[in-house]
Amino acid sequence: MKILVFGANGTIGRHAATELRRHHAEFCDGALEVIEAHRTSADFHVDANDDSSVKALFERVGEVDAVVSAIGNARWESADKATLDTYLSTIQGKLISQLRIALEARECVRPNGSITLTSGIVGNFAFPGGSASSVVNQALDAFVRTASPELPTLRINSVSATVIEESAAAYGATFPGFAPASGAVIGRAFVRSVFGVETGQTITAWG
Ligand SMILES: NC(=O)c1ccc[n+]([C@@H]2O[C@H](COP(=O)([O-])OP(=O)(O)OC[C@H]3O[C@@H](n4cnc5c(N)ncnc54)[C@H](OP(=O)(O)O)[C@@H]3O)[C@@H](O)[C@H]2O)c1
Repeated sequence: MKILVFGANGTIGRHAATELRRHHAEFCDGALEVIEAHRTSADFHVDANDDSSVKALFERVGEVDAVVSAIGNARWESADKATLDTYLSTIQGKLISQLRIALEARECVRPNGSITLTSGIVGNFAFPGGSASSVVNQALDAFVRTASPELPTLRINSVSATVIEESAAAYGATFPGFAPASGAVIGRAFVRSVFGVETGQTITAWG
């Protein structure tokens, strides 16, 4: 089995990669290859904001069973101060970059394989400065829900995590009363998407 993980060295992505490996080792036969791609990777460099870079990576990697995206750059600014650029840069950095991955992945994912994108709890509740992220997370969840019926040979889901435990100290004030989730809980949401049968779903890891 071959899984291509975008953002595999990130806070979320490394837990996704760890839990995917753990699940495969415990429950699956055969070999597993996890290809860890990210912007500063020496082995599998990719810039998800650049069409030619994403195309080149998929051409190099060839057919895969699953594509996981755990990337996304968002700007946090209070809606009373935010400019159009706040929204445009978040749309480019988290939404368009992942749509680019998903559209390119359609050609490389084997029949019955999967694509998993990353949205987040900020799409569902109001957090200070979170409106740009919210717009994008809801768009990602809407994309997988409405694109899945037209992608019958593969499954496509989003993972929506709450704040991860290791970031809770830094971001706790932004998420008052929201329980952080462990890296393992968030990683297992990606396992559910890759190894399960669901499609068109937003898989929540909200603690
Ligand atoms: N952290 C949380 O608590 C949390 C909670 C819910 C949702 N999320 C969402 O999860 C996603 C990842 O967040 P994170 O906290 O894991 O971020 P992070 O720690 O900054 O990691 C981001 C990862 O994405 C890669 N990346 C970023 N931009 C890229 C690009 N243009 N092309 C290719 N790779 C790129 C980075 O690669 P390099 O290191 O090489 O630049 C890194 O591997 C985001 O969409 C975020 O909104 C995070």
